[in-house]
Amino acid sequence: MQRNVWQSEIEFNEERKIMRLIILGATGGIGQHLLQMGLERGHQLTAYVRSPNKISEQHHRLNIVSGDLFNAGAMARSITGHDAVLSAFGPTTIRTTTLRREFGRTLATAMHESGVRRVQLVSAAFLFSKIGMFGALLKPTLFRFMAPDMAAMEREIMKVELEWTILRPPRLTNGPLTRSYRVADGELPPSGNVISRADVAEFMINEAETPAHIRRIVGLAR
Ligand SMILES: NC(=O)c1ccc[n+]([C@@H]2O[C@H](COP(=O)([O-])OP(=O)(O)OC[C@H]3O[C@@H](n4cnc5c(N)ncnc54)[C@H](OP(=O)(O)O)[C@@H]3O)[C@@H](O)[C@H]2O)c1
Repeated sequence: MQRNVWQSEIEFNEERKIMRLIILGATGGIGQHLLQMGLERGHQLTAYVRSPNKISEQHHRLNIVSGDLFNAGAMARSITGHDAVLSAFGPTTIRTTTLRREFGRTLATAMHESGVRRVQLVSAAFLFSKIGMFGALLKPTLFRFMAPDMAAMEREIMKVELEWTILRPPRLTNGPLTRSYRVADGELPPSGNVISRADVAEFMINEAETPAHIRRIVGLAR
């Protein structure tokens, strides 16, 4: 029988289940770590992005698709056939916007159409009620427009019959992968106010491989 590279990798990785993961926001800070780690772990990846030219990574297990995050039909076609969607999407604006909510609604529709149920979504720690003094100061000031839009994005994903996990990290850094971050269900780990993008990505890849927080909102922090 003729063997292709993919078959031999499946045999090589027989201890670990190889996943077909589609990554949204793959050109961003967390997204780039997701690409790198996902490939290192032997997974088959699709990066669904608006700016494919921003991705320098080339790999035979990486498929780069140019697509619109606000077009449910196009997104559904790309999501079909994957085991899970990992979203690190996030507009940088802190002004009034409904982009996050619209994205959440489009993603929920696309997932419904595609039949894929598993999704992880990066949100933000300021949606927790207990967020420490600094977060409590920023939420009604700097983040006053962003917070309701992000909460609406979460609601769009939570209201459909999906196997969702929502991640709420505090301030993100470009620090190294530590693997020593803490994870808490429904709250921010005590005094947690920072985590590296690499650690968030590592949590997401682990959670894709071994789901442990389905239909949970998780707080992550160092
Ligand atoms: N910064 C923090 O301290 C912090 C803390 C907690 C949570 N978060 C959340 O975590 C998210 C991910 O963090 P990050 O550092 O990885 O963000 P990032 O580097 O800004 O990446 C955001 C990603 O979203 C994509 N994107 C933004 N607007 C888009 C649009 N209108 N259409 C299509 N794609 C769009 C970007 O694509 P392009 O490359 O094409 O622009 C990029 O791939 C943030 O966006 C935020 O929601 C951030």
